Amino acid sequence: MHIASSKGELLAIDGGTPVGEFEEAFAAWVGAKHAVSFSSGTAALHGCTFAAGLKPGDEAITTPLTFAATANCVLYQGATPVFADVSADTLNLDPEQAAEKISPRTRAILPVDYAGHPADLSAFLQLVAQRGIVVIEDASHALGAEYQGRRLGSIADLTVFSFHPVKHLATGEGGMVTTDRSDLAEDLRRFRNHGISSDARQRQAKGHWHYEMTSLGFNYRLTDIACALGLSQLGKLEANLSRRREIAARYATAFREQSAILKPVVRDKVNPAWHLYPIRLNLEKVTVSRATVFRALRAENIGVNVHYIPVHHHPYYRDHFGYRGGEYPIAENAYERLISLPMFHGMTQQDVDDVIAAVRKILTAVSL
Ligand SMILES: Cc1ncc(COP(=O)(O)O)c(C=O)c1O
Repeated sequence: MHIASSKGELLAIDGGTPVGEFEEAFAAWVGAKHAVSFSSGTAALHGCTFAAGLKPGDEAITTPLTFAATANCVLYQGATPVFADVSADTLNLDPEQAAEKISPRTRAILPVDYAGHPADLSAFLQLVAQRGIVVIEDASHALGAEYQGRRLGSIADLTVFSFHPVKHLATGEGGMVTTDRSDLAEDLRRFRNHGISSDARQRQAKGHWHYEMTSLGFNYRLTDIACALGLSQLGKLEANLSRRREIAARYATAFREQSAILKPVVRDKVNPAWHLYPIRLNLEKVTVSRATVFRALRAENIGVNVHYIPVHHHPYYRDHFGYRGGEYPIAENAYERLISLPMFHGMTQQDVDDVIAAVRKILTAVSL
C-alpha cells in the first residue's frame, strides 16, 4: 500500500500500514512466516496457482466437493483441474484417490478443509515429496482449525483463507495466503500488484521513480479499510471459534440417537473450525427425498443450505471437460444426502434450540 504525503511522495510500502499490520498479526496468529492479503479468497487461490507455476498443459488435482473457485483458479492459469474422489467419512479429498490421478503433468494438489475439518495434510505432503508438486491447501472454511496439534497455516506449501462475510473472520470480501516459503510469498506479493516486484516498489519508496513490472499480475490488493477491519476481527477470532465449537457439540449431542442422519465425522488429532455443520440424510431410513426434508426445514424458518453441488456437475465443467456424472461416486452419493444446518458464531442458544427442534420434528415425521 502506498501512502502519499502532501507533496505526493511515497512514504511507505506495506510496513506500518493497516495492510502490513494485518498481515503480520495474521501470520503470527496462524504460526506462519508470511501472510499475503488478497481482495478475495478466490484472488488468493489465483495467486497460489500463479506462484506454483501452473501454466497451460499442467494439471492440478482437487476435490469435486467444493466451491467452484477451488477448481477455477487452476483454469485461470490455463492449466487443467483433475478431480479425485473424497473420503467417505470427512468428505475431504482422499489421498489415495489423488495418488491415482498423478501424472507427469501434475504440478499442484489442492485439498480443501471441507466444512472446517482439516484435510489429510501429512498424506498429501508425503505424496508430493521429491516430485516437485506444490500443495495448495484451500482453508477457506478452516481458519483456526488444528491438525496434529498445529493451527493450519504453515503445514502445506501455501494455505488460503477467505474473509467472505459468512466466514470466521470477515472483511466484507478478502482473502489471505500464508506460507513459510519466502520465494512463494514474494511471487504472491508481485502477482497481487500488477506483477510489479516489491524490490522495485521499495526502491521507489526510497525516492526513485523507477519501477518494473516483471510478470503479468493483477490488482488483487486488499484495501487498508478491509485490513483495519480484519485486524479488529482477529481479536474476536478465538471467541468466535469457541462459539462454533460449542454449537457443533450441542448438535452432536442432540442428534446422538438419530439414525436417520449421519453427523459430521471428526478424525483423531484434529480440531475442526466448523464453518459448516453438514449432516447427511440416511436415505435408507426415511420415506422422503433430501429435497423434501430441505423444504420442510426451510418451511420451519431454518436457514439450511447444501454444500456443494459437485463442481463437475456444473454446466461449464460438463461442456468443457465432458463430465456426465458418475465419475466420483463417493462425492456424488454424499451430495444427494447433504444438508448444511445453520452454523454461525452469532447464533444464540435459542437459535440452536430452534434448529434442533425443527430437525427432530421433521425426522420424526419422515423416519421409517
Ligand atoms: C472452499 C472455498 N474456496 C474458495 C472460496 C472463495 O472465497 P471468496 O468468496 O473469498 O472468493 C470459498 C468461498 O466461499 C470457499 O468456500
